[in-house]
Amino acid sequence: MARPLRVVGLGGSLRAASTSRMALQVALDGAAASGAEVELLAIRDLGLPLYTAEHGTPQAAREFAEAVYAGDAMIWSSPTYQGSVSGAFKNALDWLILLAERTPPYLSNKPIGLVSTAGGVQGLQTVNAMDFIARSLRGWSVPLVMPVPQSRQSFDADGRLVDDAIGDQLRALGAEVARAARQFQSKGTCDYAGAELAPVSTSG
Ligand SMILES: Cc1cc2nc3c(=O)[nH]c(=O)nc-3n(C[C@H](O)[C@H](O)[C@H](O)COP(=O)(O)O)c2cc1C
Repeated sequence: MARPLRVVGLGGSLRAASTSRMALQVALDGAAASGAEVELLAIRDLGLPLYTAEHGTPQAAREFAEAVYAGDAMIWSSPTYQGSVSGAFKNALDWLILLAERTPPYLSNKPIGLVSTAGGVQGLQTVNAMDFIARSLRGWSVPLVMPVPQSRQSFDADGRLVDDAIGDQLRALGAEVARAARQFQSKGTCDYAGAELAPVSTSG
């Protein structure tokens, strides 16, 4: 029997009531409901300094890179800051240069689900920025993405998700990541032949 899939979530802002972290948790719930083991790495808790190679490798960065590498798949969720990912989120990904010399390197063979939250409607820009980063790290971004617009309408002041439709789409994304990871695990590749595709909202 195949070993359990492991999906690692990375994201959230530095805010206690971070909506992007809650969105990540809900997406991971979808992956867990599909049978995956999940782990949420909240940017706020990682304690990562700004990336530099000049002072050795901090233990926090080493542990972070190992946790990522041990996963079969990832889900990323960043707030939209100035039309793109947050600096803290990007800094965490910069530390993954620690995986450059691994075999296979970086995030090879790992599907990555992309999620963002935004105060306005620029969240797709954030997802697209993540797509560029995922490819540079040799990951496979999953076609189903979830940019949550106007976050104050979907989350309450404590960061709890209050929009069931958004919740359903986030869980569908998590399930899709698990499905893709399962294909990589069994076949070393991923395609849509015979796959039961997660529903994609066309309502905007
Ligand atoms: C520094 C900063 C820059 C932001 N820039 C944008 C932006 O360019 N476009 C947008 O739609 N929302 C922008 N926002 C709003 C955040 O994307 C929104 O509040 C998001 O839900 C915050 O995520 P969080 O709850 O995880 O902190 C910005 C917020 C901050 C603090």
